[in-house]
Order: sequence, then C-alpha cells, then structure tokens
Amino acid sequence: MQSDLAIDLGSSNTRIFVENKGIQVDEPSVITVNVDEETVIAVGKEAYQMLGRTPDRKIAAYPITGGVISDFAMVEAMLKTFLKRVTRSSIGMPKAVICVPKGITEVEKAALVNLISSSGIRKVCIIEEPVAAAMGAGTDISSPHGSLIVNIGGGTTQIAVISLGGISVSRSARNAGNSMDEDIIKYIKKTYNMLIGRRTAENAKIQAGSVISGSVPGTYPIKGKCLVTGLPIKVDIDAEELVAPLRKTADLIISQIQDILVETPPELLADIYTDGLTLTGGTANLTGIADLIHEQTGLKVNTAAQPESCVIKGCGEAIKYIDSKPSKKGGINPIIERY
Ligand SMILES: Nc1ncnc2c1ncn2[C@@H]1O[C@H](COP(=O)(O)OP(=O)(O)O)[C@@H](O)[C@H]1O
Ligand SMILES: [Mg+2]
Repeated sequence: MQSDLAIDLGSSNTRIFVENKGIQVDEPSVITVNVDEETVIAVGKEAYQMLGRTPDRKIAAYPITGGVISDFAMVEAMLKTFLKRVTRSSIGMPKAVICVPKGITEVEKAALVNLISSSGIRKVCIIEEPVAAAMGAGTDISSPHGSLIVNIGGGTTQIAVISLGGISVSRSARNAGNSMDEDIIKYIKKTYNMLIGRRTAENAKIQAGSVISGSVPGTYPIKGKCLVTGLPIKVDIDAEELVAPLRKTADLIISQIQDILVETPPELLADIYTDGLTLTGGTANLTGIADLIHEQTGLKVNTAAQPESCVIKGCGEAIKYIDSKPSKKGGINPIIERY
C-alpha cells in the first residue's frame, strides 16, 4: 500500500509529509531548468544555491509567487522531482491532502488541483491553509471557541479567526517575508548605491534583522555590486538600519490584524482577548515580530513551536480525514473539497 501524503506548496518552501513517517521534504520552492533541452537541473536546496548565478539559457526560479502558481510547468517538474523521493514507484498512486491559501480564486484552485493530479496523485483533498496552521500549532479547531491565527510565510500572510473547524473572518495579503527582503534591497540601493540579490537580503534579515529598535547589536557585512562603478563592494551596515525597512511589512500586517479584529463577532473577540493570537509561518521567527504585534494590538502573542512547520503538520494530521465522510453528528472534518 502506498502511504498517503500531505503537500504544502509554499511560495518559499515546499514541504511533504508522509503518513506514519512525518515531514520528509522541507526545501526551498526553487527549480533550475535548462531552457533549450527542457530538462530539470536541480530542485530545492541545490537549486536555491543557483539563484542569481545561472548562465544564459539556464533559469533558477521560484515558480510560486504570492501563494499562486506563476509557472505551471516549472511547479509540476519541481513537485514530480520531490514526489519521486518519497513515493515507492511500483505500486499505486497516493492520495494527498493539500492546503490552499484562503482567498485564491476558483480558477487558481482548479489549476493547483490539476497540477497535483498530473504529478501522480490519485485523490486530492483540500484544506484551507489557516485551518492547517491552527491544527499544526496545536489549536483544537473543533471547539466553538474562537482562535486568531496569523500565518506569516514568504509569499503571503494569512490572518483568520477560526471556530468550529471553519473560518469566520479572514484576510490574505502579499505582505510577508519576501516583501521584507524586497524592502531591504531597496534600502541598500538607495542608501549605498549598491545592488544586492534576493538571497543576500534574506540572509541579512535572518541574521541581523529585527522589527524592534535596539534588539540586535553590532554590524553586518553585505556584499553587492556598486551602481556607480559596476564593481563588487562590501559595506558593514548597522543591524539597526534594517529595522525601518522591515517595519514597512510588519506595520501593514499589524494593520490587517486590527482590521480583522474590527470584523470579528463579539463572542469570538472575547475568546481572542482571553487567549491571544497564535503566530505561525517562517516569518514568525523574525526577531521582535511577536513583541511588536503584542505592543500594537494589546493581544497576547503565542508563537507556535517550529512555526514554519505548522501548516504541513496540520495537513499531515488531516490525512486521517481523507476517506471519512463529514459526520452527521456535526463532527469536524477540516477537508472542504475532494477531487
Ligand atoms: N529566522 C528567521 N528570521 C526571519 N525570517 C525567517 C526566518 N526563518 C525563515 N524566515 C522567513 O520565512 C519565510 C518562509 O516562511 P514559510 O512559512 O516557509 O513560507 P511559505 O509558506 O510562503 O513557503 C521566508 O521569507 C524566510 O526568509
Ligand atoms: Mg506557507
């Protein structure tokens, strides 16, 4: 028997969970291809190392942008390569739970389901990403109690109030880890006349970034290309300089959380006031982000353990619902659609 799977095709990272085994793939959603021969050169970690470094006629790219597939063929090739690592080739095709960002269109969803099916999955079950994040963070989603989930990934931030297994109010926006990296690139360009790549910006954010002033001491070396001479240069920036560019995205996320609170029905709001919110996604690891959200919203902020893995863990937990019908007694089944 082929083990069932859970798949999280994120803008930054692809994660695959295998039933009874756990997370077996956790790699950047990057693929490098040879344009002329239409062959795959590398995927995941190996392809990530090639970003911005490929010669003519070879492309290394993130084929999912802002939670949405931007290059169908590339995502399909990447997923097939990852799936080959976790499935036994000989017998049958597995079933899979996949998560979709709340707020994608029917057309985008159909494209995703199509792609997963054509990558060798027999049955595709859909769960909404914020629900998966809540489950993976250990929230009891079946209770009538309201919980506020803030999942800040690379491509999107999803904010949702969940109760009784469903989403009451939600927001999805493209202010997340990637927009933080872009703001670092812009800041370095403007201040130092220096061009840096996306990986350099992301590393600076992870190593020296913070959204709270005074929390990261010292300097951080950044290497790039001088816009005046065209030559390579290095500047030692003060870690403090990263606060302002990173705050742009952080402040937008916080105002979206405030919008959601305004839309939340009073009973659920009372629950959230008592319990606070749960922070998940890779960007939950950013220095100061939990403190800043607490400071600006007044809510307690519970950062999930291994926040980047919550969505895939939640999808993995939902594997047990693949074959179960929605219960007549009103039991909670997080799977909303099956194809
Ligand atoms: N320690 C860290 N500090 C700041 N940002 C981080 C850290 N670790 C990961 N990230 C960011 O988290 C994002 C990836 O989160 P993830 O939830 O895997 O994204 P997605 O679901 O969009 O694929 C990236 O923007 C990455 O730079
Ligand atoms: Mg994600």
